[in-house]
Amino acid sequence: MITVKEITAADTYKIRLEVLRKNIDLPYKFDGDFDKETFHLGGYYEEELVGIATFMKNDIESLKGSQYQLRGMATTTKARGKGLGKHIINKAVAILKEKQIDFLWCNARKEAVLFYEKLSFAKIGAEFIVEKVGPHYKMYTKI
Ligand SMILES: CC(C)(COP(=O)(O)OP(=O)(O)OC[C@H]1O[C@@H](n2cnc3c(N)ncnc32)[C@H](O)[C@@H]1OP(=O)(O)O)[C@@H](O)C(=O)NCCC(=O)NCCS
Repeated sequence: MITVKEITAADTYKIRLEVLRKNIDLPYKFDGDFDKETFHLGGYYEEELVGIATFMKNDIESLKGSQYQLRGMATTTKARGKGLGKHIINKAVAILKEKQIDFLWCNARKEAVLFYEKLSFAKIGAEFIVEKVGPHYKMYTKI
């Protein structure tokens, strides 16, 4: 069974390192991790933490309205394709609705674009490169 609940920044570090920083020499602790408005969600499968995401108050100019940025979205290899990612985003959208936020956006790795499109995110602008990681698109969804 899948459950999603709020977790701490420190709870995200293991999966951030394992999935998002494997052979990538970039920080796994993010500026803003401990900001008052930041929240972190954990996805549990059979009571094991196997999915994470972080949501930070952060605006980009191309969106007009109140915004959050999604960062550090990852599920462990063995937990993929079970709906963990979808459940985490759905829970975040419900929380952001309560907060009366207009948009959720992210810098999406190119290989994850289809995942986000399935969750009603759309691309903004052209592909860009994040050094040490690779091609990305800015993507957003209306809350
Ligand atoms: C992207 C990621 C978070 C998806 O998590 P997940 O738990 O496997 O996703 P879900 O099982 O909830 O998938 C939801 C839907 O998206 C699809 N999907 C998931 N990952 C996909 C991908 N990389 N490409 C295409 N479709 C994908 C699933 O098939 C599913 O479709 P369905 O609803 O039609 O069945 C996970 O693959 C991951 O951690 N990847 C490595 C790190 C990464 O790229 N993170 C994103 C950084 S921007």
